[in-house]
Amino acid sequence: MAKVVCVLYEDPEDGFPSSYARDDVPRIAQYPDGQTTPTPSGIDFTPGEMLGSVSGELGLRKYLESNGHSFVVTSSKDGPDSVLEKEIVDADIVISQPFWPAYITAERMAKAPNLKLAITAGIGSDHVDLDAAINNGLTVAEVTFCNSISVAEHVVMMILGLVRNYIPSYQWVTKGGWNIADCVARSYDVEGMHVGTVASGRIGLAVLRRLKPFDMHLHYVDRHRLPREVEQELNLTHHETVEDMVKVCDVVTINCPLHSETEHLFDADMLSKMKRGSYIVNTARGKICDRDAIAAALESGQIAGYAGDVWFPQPAPRDHVWRTMPHHGMTPHISGTSLSAQARYAAGVREILECWFEDRPIRDEYLIVQGGKLAGVGARSYSEGDATGGSEEAAKFSAA
Ligand code: NAI
Repeated sequence: MAKVVCVLYEDPEDGFPSSYARDDVPRIAQYPDGQTTPTPSGIDFTPGEMLGSVSGELGLRKYLESNGHSFVVTSSKDGPDSVLEKEIVDADIVISQPFWPAYITAERMAKAPNLKLAITAGIGSDHVDLDAAINNGLTVAEVTFCNSISVAEHVVMMILGLVRNYIPSYQWVTKGGWNIADCVARSYDVEGMHVGTVASGRIGLAVLRRLKPFDMHLHYVDRHRLPREVEQELNLTHHETVEDMVKVCDVVTINCPLHSETEHLFDADMLSKMKRGSYIVNTARGKICDRDAIAAALESGQIAGYAGDVWFPQPAPRDHVWRTMPHHGMTPHISGTSLSAQARYAAGVREILECWFEDRPIRDEYLIVQGGKLAGVGARSYSEGDATGGSEEAAKFSAA
């Protein structure tokens, strides 16, 4: 029987919800590429309920305990005194989320000799040291596609929010003002602008498709070129390098995984190549951007706005400069954990667990690392390496 340790974000400050704004969420059976949504043998939750926070437990307790497994759920994940640090030593499986990542560093793996499976309840497994997972024979799996469309919707919202100057204008209303000129002095239309995505995978392509009706000019760069029919359908301009693309774009959206090739891709040098007054929306991973270079580029006016929901580390330290830099539209890491998305990733985690315990293969598209090498989506979208360096700084959030 296995010990499963699950790290989830904290419950709402006012307590776990007892009712919801809506009575249901739409039932999605298939993703745009034909892949089916998760297919566990059953679920013990109602889609639309809070599943991603500690008391939601991803709806897994009944399933795990009735099969004789032990299940520890905690939000305490950072620092030597955290629950995770103590519980991981005899854990067989760790489940974590990108929103509130349990950083599974080489040191933590070394303390956990039984650990064989790390499941990401969501997409993006950069919080696991992939090199160490490869060397230690761990399987790393995530719920590919579960929240890609959730994020694409969020990206479109944030592009419109920045370019049209939504948040400052909203703030004038709540402050009791009617300051039209203040609001519009930084407000533009996206129509006719050039927007480019770094990566055209599940999220990047969905963003392009959603922006097409806004009559924007669409650009992309990716290590895998899209089929010619898709390029023609969306009238896409493909660029060989990120540098070539950002030079001609008014808006850049970042949608690639964080791995050794993409860490700090947007540094001071890359930002200096962008058009003055461009906007960046990064819902991929905070570390793809250089924290201080982004703040400096906003201060100088080289970029006109920055929005996203991803930081490094997470939770972001209280003194993280992105909380206070000008012209930003940052939120905590939420785009992929709407109530709609939670139902899919909770079911996907259950599907992965069922496969693991019943000795059935995990869907290839869910795999990041298996058998000592990158596998599945991991082989297509990641590079070997470790992106967890510096994650110990997350302990500064609760300590502050
Ligand atoms: P995906 O695997 O479908 O697409 C990733 C794309 O990135 C692939 O097309 C790949 O070829 C491309 N890529 C990888 N390295 C590249 C490089 N160096 N240069 C150019 N392209 C590169 O994944 P999906 O679903 O689109 O998600 C992408 C990322 O978005 C995730 O890995 C995760 O980090 C982030 N994400 C964020 C969420 C949030 O809540 N903010 C939720 C879901 C994903």
